[in-house]
This record gives sequence, C-alpha cells and structure tokens, in this order.
Amino acid sequence: MPATVVVGSQWGDEGKGRVVDLLAAEADLVVRYQGGNNAGHTVWVGEQRFAFHLIPTGILRGKLCILGAGMVIDLAVLRQEAAELAARGVAVEGRLRVSENAHLILPYHKLLEQAEEERRGSKAIGTTRRGIGPAYEDKVARRGVRVGDLREPDTLAEKVGEAAAYKSLILERVYGLPPVDSARICQDLQELAKPLLPWICDTSRVVYDALAKGQDVLFEGAHGTMLDVDWGTYPYVTSSNPLSGAICAGAGVGPKWLDRIIGAAKAYTTRVGAGPLPTELPEEVAKQMRDAGGEYGTTTGRERRIGWFDAVVVSKSARVNGLDALAMTHLDVLGQFAEIPVCVAYELDGERITDLPNDLRQFARCEPIYEASPGWESDIASARRFADLPANAQRYVRRVEELVGVRVSHVLVGRQRDQSIVL
Ligand code: IMP
Repeated sequence: MPATVVVGSQWGDEGKGRVVDLLAAEADLVVRYQGGNNAGHTVWVGEQRFAFHLIPTGILRGKLCILGAGMVIDLAVLRQEAAELAARGVAVEGRLRVSENAHLILPYHKLLEQAEEERRGSKAIGTTRRGIGPAYEDKVARRGVRVGDLREPDTLAEKVGEAAAYKSLILERVYGLPPVDSARICQDLQELAKPLLPWICDTSRVVYDALAKGQDVLFEGAHGTMLDVDWGTYPYVTSSNPLSGAICAGAGVGPKWLDRIIGAAKAYTTRVGAGPLPTELPEEVAKQMRDAGGEYGTTTGRERRIGWFDAVVVSKSARVNGLDALAMTHLDVLGQFAEIPVCVAYELDGERITDLPNDLRQFARCEPIYEASPGWESDIASARRFADLPANAQRYVRRVEELVGVRVSHVLVGRQRDQSIVL
C-alpha cells in the first residue's frame, strides 16, 4: 500500500494527528497538502505533548516531511515550530521540504481577516484569525506571493510591493486602518527565510520519486470534510479543500497513486467556530464530554462545541472522500454514558432525509433523528484488541460501520501511542 491518506471526516479535530502518528511509523514520506497554521494536530509521547500546526506530524517518527503546494505558510510560525521541535530533541534538519509553489501568509492577511471578522459582527465565521482565508483569496486572485519568491529578492520586493499597495488601499479606505509598509515586510521575510531556503524545492518531484520507487507515502489531511470550501457547511468553512481529492492539486500527484483513504472520525462530534451543528449537546452534558475528551482547540484554545455522533455527516464524508476505512478516535470518552444516542437521519420540514443538504439554510433546519445505543459505562483505556472492548462498545463500533457503510480499521481509546486497536 504505497500511498495512504488520512482525512478528517467531521469538522476537524478528529484526532488525525494520532492516526497519522500511528501510520507514520511505517511510512517513508509524510506530506501535508492544504491548509496552514489554522490546523492543530496533537500527539502525546509519554507525558510529552506535541502540537503541530504546519509541520507534518510524521516528523516525530523521524520521517522526511513535505509541506505541499496547496498550503499557505506563515514563515514565523514555521521557524518557531521547527525551532521548538529541535529544542525538544526532534530531528528537523534535513527532514523538511517546502514546496516552492506554496503561498505565503503575509501581515496584511491577518490584519484584513481580523478587520473583516469584526465587521461581520454576529455573522462572523469564527475563523482562527491566522490570515488563512485572505492568503487563499490572493492565491486565486493571482496576486499571491509564493515560497519560491523568497529566493529572488527583486521578485519578492516587486510582488510584495504591488500586493501591499493594493491591500493598503483596502485597509485605509474600507476599514479606516493604517497602511502596511512593504519594505519592512520584505526585510522581515528575508530574515525569516534565511535558514529555510535549503528546504525549498519542487516537492511534487520528491513525492513522485518516492511513489515511483514503491516507498510508503502518507498524506496528512488537515481540518475536516465539513470545513471543505466546496463540500463543507459553506460559508462556515475554511478556505481550502481538506478532501482527499485535493491531494492531487495540493501535493502535485496524479489520482491513480492514492491507494487507501482513511477517514478519522471521533466517536462523537465536535466543531469550533460558528455554523449549524445538528447534534449539539446542551452545555451541561457538553462540558462533561469537553473535560473528559480535552476538547479545547489545539490552535486557538477555544472550547469545542460538542454533539453526538452524526452518521449523516460521516456518510457524506465517506462519499466525497471515497473512504476505504474509518479510524474511530476518542471512544473512551463515551464510557461515562448509560445510553449513547447516534444520529441516523435528519428531519427536514417534516421529511426524513439521510443526505446532508448542501444548502446551509436547509441544513440549519435539520433536526437529528436518533437511535439509542446502550453504553458500556466502563473505562476502556487498557483495551488493545477489539475483543477486549465491552460488548456494547463493540456494538457501537459495528453500528457506526453499518450506518456509514465503511469498515472501521482502527479504534483509539486514549491519548497514548499504544492506546489503539487495529481491526
Ligand atoms: P479559518 O480556517 O481560520 O479560515 O477558519 C474557518 C473555520 O474553520 C472556523 O470555524 C475555524 O474554527 C475552522 N477551522 C479551521 N481549521 C480548523 C481545524 O483544524 N480544526 C477545527 N476547526 C478548524
């Protein structure tokens, strides 16, 4: 199985970092293909917690890691993340490659995002305010500055100069804010880029060569399918495509190379930011789950909203990603409930539906239809084989498989590396 993909099948934070860490042990190359430092992947190694935002989680396993062309990169964050990892004894030098085609997040992206979120008031998206959306806007508007431009100071100055002049007009005339100083931006970029220049290359070639040699390549998705700009709950989405299909453009590989697509799915549902969440729990129960599951954003520290497992959501993910398997995470967190409702369908305007509506107004009117499954009310953290799980936990996993129509390949029962079950 040379090429394996891990994508989020809900609204992000499914525990992809843990799943990638598990699979990366066998991989030669780990590749991120979209998003930026709005992502947050947490991995525990013993009592040490590692939180990744830009660098693929595979770095912890000593693998060659790629930041692909579909990403947007904040150089200051990349440098800091690499420095922090190195300071904690993780080998980074020689193990990172950054696509010359990836786009840079620049200071005006963050300023504009903040100003726009504030202007939207109650209609704010609830973004991470890392400048992700505005950086993708510039990419598509063909005024973006790319990582490869860092190698050519004249090109960099020209591109940043033109973009900054335009952005300053918007900052001043739309939002009444001060303009940005393009010379200063270029100077900072060049300073930040110095140690990173040797990492910059045509990463599509690196991925292709690895695949052509039959090496194992792991594609690490970020965020989740419901945050996909095309297939998620638009407009409450991120500005890239977390879908498996985006790997081809984001990493520069042809679709025929992708062998196995795994969707990470929490045993319940969480989301951060605004937008409908049909199975959302009342705050008293949500708090119980939030505390048990450590449900606070890795990137922003925000409290995650919590709901029961929604099979309508994950079924849509299975369809649009072509999922071969599900890695079910956080099953241990459900051990406190006598009864566990699972959303099997929605009621929309008096009708039962099992396809998630693409129209947000319709989606917001959907009421969950639940099926109750009996809980197991015990601690499953020490289970290492499927047979070790209580019968009701096994039934829960099997019922999810039936509802989503995809087999479960892994069950995660705790935050430590060995707290996983391979089915
Ligand atoms: P942005 O990606 O910062 O533009 O934020 C857009 C929406 O996506 C907001 O609701 C964010 O909270 C959400 N979001 C972006 N990345 C993640 C993630 O990795 N996990 C969970 N939510 C995310």
